[in-house]
Amino acid sequence: MAWKTLDDMDLDGKRVLVRVDINVPMEDGVVTDMTRISRIADTVYDIQDAGGQVILMAHYGRPKGKVVEEMSLIHIAPFVADELGVPVTFADSDYRDAVKEMEGDEVLLLENLRFNPGEEANDPEFAKRLASLCDVYVNDAFSAAHRAHASTEAIAKLRPSCAGRLMEEELSALEAALGTPKRPVVAVVGGAKVSTKLDLLGNLVGKVDHLVIGGGMANTFLAAQGINVGKSLCEHDLAETAREILAKAEAAGCEIILPRDIVVARVFKAGAAHETVAPDACPADAMILDAGPATVAYIKGVFAKAKTLIWNGPMGAFEIAPFDAATNAAALAAAKLTKAGKLTSVAGGGDTVAALNQAGAAADFTYISTAGGAFLEWMEGKELPGVAALNA
Ligand code: 3PG
Repeated sequence: MAWKTLDDMDLDGKRVLVRVDINVPMEDGVVTDMTRISRIADTVYDIQDAGGQVILMAHYGRPKGKVVEEMSLIHIAPFVADELGVPVTFADSDYRDAVKEMEGDEVLLLENLRFNPGEEANDPEFAKRLASLCDVYVNDAFSAAHRAHASTEAIAKLRPSCAGRLMEEELSALEAALGTPKRPVVAVVGGAKVSTKLDLLGNLVGKVDHLVIGGGMANTFLAAQGINVGKSLCEHDLAETAREILAKAEAAGCEIILPRDIVVARVFKAGAAHETVAPDACPADAMILDAGPATVAYIKGVFAKAKTLIWNGPMGAFEIAPFDAATNAAALAAAKLTKAGKLTSVAGGGDTVAALNQAGAAADFTYISTAGGAFLEWMEGKELPGVAALNA
């Protein structure tokens, strides 16, 4: 890979501006998941150990070029300080003065980049202003690398640039999963709608040996084969597209795995009365909410023979029991194989991490990406501007 890492840079006595993603969930003023903050720790420590001063910059939410008080990073700064165990000073606008005043192992955190319209516009002037604060630019925000913004794209050309430790980790894990994977490769793609994952499915069928389709998306594929899915979530208008994906998979030698049995219920609520039936036996007044045990058993067999697994999206309505059963069982099977050294398992994207955490499987996966949209775009085979800029 063309991009440099912290090891390739001279950081001694340098001001190092690091783009991080600390777009973390917050409730009542408290960060409810520290993962993204804890995962930037190595980058911060390694820069400091090499004699550099760390300036962090990040976005928070989508304020669209305006100052929105509740999206200020001032609310996140204490959590960063706590988690990293370093003093964090916050700079809301006088960046230059704040940088000049930095002392010792103090870390400076700049205000939400997206308060400035230049950030999302990838404005060269805003990038220049940011670059003027530093000697070296580091991008450690893989999860924001799908955005061509001033802090992820334009700035990379203005200073010596490299990937931070988390960016390095993410790119290596993804390369191992889909770039040059050990075969057979199995992908699990779930979620509600085919329409949001068309590019993903199209790319995967040409790259993986087995593709498990789960969640509401599977209903669209069942319906496309003439099966009545009752009141299930289903994009009937995508039947033709689904058939094209099935044909493309067949031509590429990729096995598409759809539910072999389904769990159906009349109401969508926790503990609702439900039954397991054949895929073509969904009653007209019921909906499919999960894959059944026969499907799980088949998937476990596929996992057992696979060397690499890439997972995006839950297999059923995992938010409510008992419709989390297939997701949980398949995730635990993958975790067990990974722990035994038989499988490389990589997961990421939106609900996926929540589902794997809920299943108690995440800790044993080889790699859990911090990225949502960026993970998806990367799986779609798209070039991520933030990564491409580091390669330039
Ligand atoms: C994310 O949470 O996925 C990243 O921080 C990117 O956020 P965005 O979708 O608002 O660009």
